[in-house]
Amino acid sequence: MPELPDGDPAPKDGTLPDISMDRPFSAYVHVPFCQVRCGYCDFNTYTSTELGPGATPREYDSQLLGEIALAGQVLDGGKPLSTIFFGGGTPTYLQASQLAHILGVLELVFGFEDGAEITTEANPETVDAEYLRSLKDAGFTRVSVGMQSAATHVLATLDRLHTPERVPMVINWAREAGLSASVDLIYGTPGESLDDWRHSLAEAIAMNPDHVSAYGLGIEPGTKMGQQVKRGILPDTDPDDLAAKYEIADEMLSTAGYSWYEVSNWSKPGHQSRHNMAYWRNSNWWGFGPGAHSHINGTRFWNVKHPRAWAERLKAGESPAAAREILSPQERAEEDIMLGIRLAEGLPDTAGLAGPGQALDRAELAKRRHKTMILAHDGLLDPSELTGGRMVLTLNGRLLADTVIRQLWD
Ligand SMILES: C[S@@+](CC[C@H](N)C(=O)[O-])C[C@H]1O[C@@H](n2cnc3c(N)ncnc32)[C@H](O)[C@@H]1O
Ligand code: SF4
Repeated sequence: MPELPDGDPAPKDGTLPDISMDRPFSAYVHVPFCQVRCGYCDFNTYTSTELGPGATPREYDSQLLGEIALAGQVLDGGKPLSTIFFGGGTPTYLQASQLAHILGVLELVFGFEDGAEITTEANPETVDAEYLRSLKDAGFTRVSVGMQSAATHVLATLDRLHTPERVPMVINWAREAGLSASVDLIYGTPGESLDDWRHSLAEAIAMNPDHVSAYGLGIEPGTKMGQQVKRGILPDTDPDDLAAKYEIADEMLSTAGYSWYEVSNWSKPGHQSRHNMAYWRNSNWWGFGPGAHSHINGTRFWNVKHPRAWAERLKAGESPAAAREILSPQERAEEDIMLGIRLAEGLPDTAGLAGPGQALDRAELAKRRHKTMILAHDGLLDPSELTGGRMVLTLNGRLLADTVIRQLWD
């Protein structure tokens, strides 16, 4: 698993330098349990054999209450939540009643805005019709299903536990329960042909979900797959293959009525993930659970990673934050660009050049305009949007988003 950054020490009582709540407020709830660890996965998650007393799924909802109460105190009651996202790990490894319990306490402490978006991730083999109905009854509005692929051999390489046939059943149950449905796909798995990928997209589209996320497989050194690639047992991903598959995804999804709104995310009109948008617009969120990251008004903090260490801190009445980082105005501007440029709505071409109420420096503005013209000339920024004063990535720009970000800052 990737190490957490070092950061500065975080106060034991969890206090923050600025708790004004003038941006929308979201909650992320991390559930760090999985039945098996998929060979490619680098997330902070554990199987039952890796955990013992003091860190079990059964007691997890009760343990989370400690952090929710702490956040309520630190934020002086905060404000009603506009989006809530349960991610993992496998949130649906918990009982539906446990997820309902956690949600109920979040509502008690902060309240929910009218029409709040409340999502959980779900592995296909962990939910059935009754489970999904219970989620809807508890107040969930949305479920994000980890489909990954419709090719059996790809699912096997990824160590997934479900069959391709399970996913349409889950999407139907979700729809019958009244939940909005999203599917997650992964492309670029070793052994996946272009036709396998087209087939996965066609199967996903045939289920008519409201939202699709498609991620290029990332092979991390600390994972089982990372080791297999290092030893030559599996081939590494090929950037040309990843680019071709991204283009196929964009083509097939847009033909089927899905528009991209972020580099890896497409949706039917009105079904963008508002929670994801909150991250990309750099608004405020509290991440609950082991290893979860938070951002409140330019202060980023992150919790200790191990579920037992996290629970022990809370039991001792201490904040579970491992460390924090207070961003300078320059760092905040850099972050705003890094996140915002990935969105279809793009950014004003002056983004990051002056803080609120500050005058634009003419020399800086001229430099920025020069860079954006070169990026448009190279086919990475949309020239017609640029004429209107906005930086919006083209299809090629989406494939090279990191290059665009680097060039804007160089
Ligand atoms: C961490 S998982 C949690 C949800 C759930 N446990 C699942 O597996 O569906 C969230 C999503 O991250 C994506 N993901 C995880 N590891 C990845 C990797 N190494 N490369 C690309 N996508 C990855 C997968 O699409 C997955 O659906
Ligand atoms: S089920 Fe999801 S979170 Fe768990 S190991 Fe697999 S990809 Fe990671």
